[in-house]
Amino acid sequence: MDYTILVNNKNLLLPDYIPEDLIEIYEPMGSKLDKTYINRLNIKAYKAFKEMQKDALKEGYEIFIDSSYRTYEYQKRIFDQTVKEKGLKHALKYVALPGGSEHQTGLAIDIIFKRNNKMIEEQTENDPEIKWLFSHAHIYGFILRYPKGKEKITGFNFEPWHFRFVGQELAKKIYIQNITLEEYYTLQKRAQ
Ligand code: DAL
Ligand code: ZN
Repeated sequence: MDYTILVNNKNLLLPDYIPEDLIEIYEPMGSKLDKTYINRLNIKAYKAFKEMQKDALKEGYEIFIDSSYRTYEYQKRIFDQTVKEKGLKHALKYVALPGGSEHQTGLAIDIIFKRNNKMIEEQTENDPEIKWLFSHAHIYGFILRYPKGKEKITGFNFEPWHFRFVGQELAKKIYIQNITLEEYYTLQKRAQ
């Protein structure tokens, strides 16, 4: 598995792309369009998440995985449903096209957290749990994938909940340089 894989609306995965090394996760999560949804994540990414979750808890932050692997078909269902409910313009900003979602790689997670024993389904950049992730996720190999101010580069609106496992080495580089995965690939091409 290439943990640094670039997936977006311009770099699409094939409909039949199913990653290897997925493990099922039975932990608290939020409500879903698909009521039978089970979280599945790349095993290395999951181990990294568990370390991050443990350290977050030491700070009093109870973080969980709300959403992880999605099939091409499920991404299509979410996209179509969002278009129906909020229109195409909104959908294109928040939901990747089928094949364009990192969730199909099994390396992306949407974070949810519990506070006072209650699951908080809306995450903002002002939540201390999210702030902690912004400054610590790279230590475990995750990057904030759709940062604020980089919407034109990533193609998506700011998503303070969506983190992507790229491995510790690359996560650190991306964090220190304050760049996106798209910018990292552009820099790599230039250097060749
Ligand atoms: N929300 C992100 C962009 C996705 O649909 O994969
Ligand atoms: Zn996501």
